Amino acid sequence: MAKAKTLYTCTECGGNSLKWAGQCPHCSAWNTLVETVAEVARAGGHRYAGLAAPAEAVSLSSVEAKDFPRLPTMVGEFDRVLGGGLVEGGVVLIGGDPGIGKSTLLLQAAAKLSEVVPVLYVTGEESAQQVALRAKRLDVNAAKVMLLPEIELEKIQAAIVSMKPKVAVIDSIQTLYSSALTSAPGSVAQVRECAAQLTRLAKQSGTTVIFIGHVTKEGALAGPRVLEHMVDTVLYFEGDTHTSFRLVRAFKNRFGAVNEMGVFAMTEKGLREVTNPSALFLSRHSEGVSGSCVMVTQEGTRPLLVELQALVDDSHGGTPKRLTVGLEQNRLAMLLAVLHRHAGIACFDQDVFVNAVGGVRIAEPGADLAVTLAIASSLRNKPLPDRHVVFGEVGLAGEVRPVQRGQERLKEAAKLGFTHAIIPAANKPRQPIAGLEIITVERLVEAVDYVRK
Ligand code: TYD
Ligand code: MG
Repeated sequence: MAKAKTLYTCTECGGNSLKWAGQCPHCSAWNTLVETVAEVARAGGHRYAGLAAPAEAVSLSSVEAKDFPRLPTMVGEFDRVLGGGLVEGGVVLIGGDPGIGKSTLLLQAAAKLSEVVPVLYVTGEESAQQVALRAKRLDVNAAKVMLLPEIELEKIQAAIVSMKPKVAVIDSIQTLYSSALTSAPGSVAQVRECAAQLTRLAKQSGTTVIFIGHVTKEGALAGPRVLEHMVDTVLYFEGDTHTSFRLVRAFKNRFGAVNEMGVFAMTEKGLREVTNPSALFLSRHSEGVSGSCVMVTQEGTRPLLVELQALVDDSHGGTPKRLTVGLEQNRLAMLLAVLHRHAGIACFDQDVFVNAVGGVRIAEPGADLAVTLAIASSLRNKPLPDRHVVFGEVGLAGEVRPVQRGQERLKEAAKLGFTHAIIPAANKPRQPIAGLEIITVERLVEAVDYVRK
């Protein structure tokens, strides 16, 4: 047998190089080349030959546009992020930090699914006993789930072919290895190879495959990013392991919307769905505290009230600190500059910390106005007026821009007992909302002046 050839594969782009180098020659990323073993060519053609059936070009109009039949997992919040349920032959990757609850969620979903379709749960991380113990603890009826403690890809493929499950869960993709490669399980080459082969099998057999993947410290799924391109749906588990709330978010979904979010609470009986999470991220203060501002953010189809907290304190020496938790750090620097130039509030000699309560992460610029008002409130050490909610994007010229779905946000705020809303003028609702007084602003300075009163 010929000696196995060593290649260097980039963990960012998956490109191969013959020699090690500090910088990837393909994508120019630094320190990303890792040693892998070149694939052994197999008899019978290319290994990926079967990924797509040979086909002829057809005109689009002649293709029958069928909706994907969905297989609901019966875990409502999970179905919400999936876009209504699993899709036949679809491949889902679910990533997250260790211990966040990936195995728990999928065992719960597998147990419910097994009542209607055959389900295979491949466990490479835990023994069969451990999984059985977990099922007992979760108090789920997992009797019909077929359990396969196995990490060799070829045996898993054979099991899927012979058992013909409708859904196969792989816990986790990092523990699998293919005997065609000599590198260790979890290496870039192995993860990529195993995921590619199982994806191919999913498309061929119509089995839905769910991969569990771990996230590295840098926040990327361990293994090459190509994993994200290969699969149809990428979900991430988020949340602070110190609190009981867990969020599942869709980052990519070929079969649904990407901004959906599922909310769970970790209890001693596993993950419990939180169907009405809008008040989850509010801390209840008996009286107003300075630096706190409640905003309404929109997650997919659901408005969510989140408390933002700012702390502004004298900076002692060096560059003042700007720190955010759950919000974008660069955006804070920008907002501080706007606050100075367009509202006359200077923080250049102050440390500024901003936090979104409850470990929620807010990516939308609709949080800008709430962040600036929280900062202004902390700097003046004066609480914002009681039961006010805020949303709106702040532009570099000091203008307040509208956000999407303003009406829904306002309705949710009114439902939760808020009496006033400070919002962009362009978001003013056509009809008044019962119990909610609307204060519209066009410029940041108007909002700052309003809360100063
Ligand atoms: P797990 O699903 O094993 O995490 P992952 O597969 O993402 O690594 O979750 C493990 C954590 O969840 C562990 O710290 C214990 C906790 N847990 C509960 O609080 N209640 C439960 O019913 C279960 C099964 C786990
Ligand atoms: Mg696990």
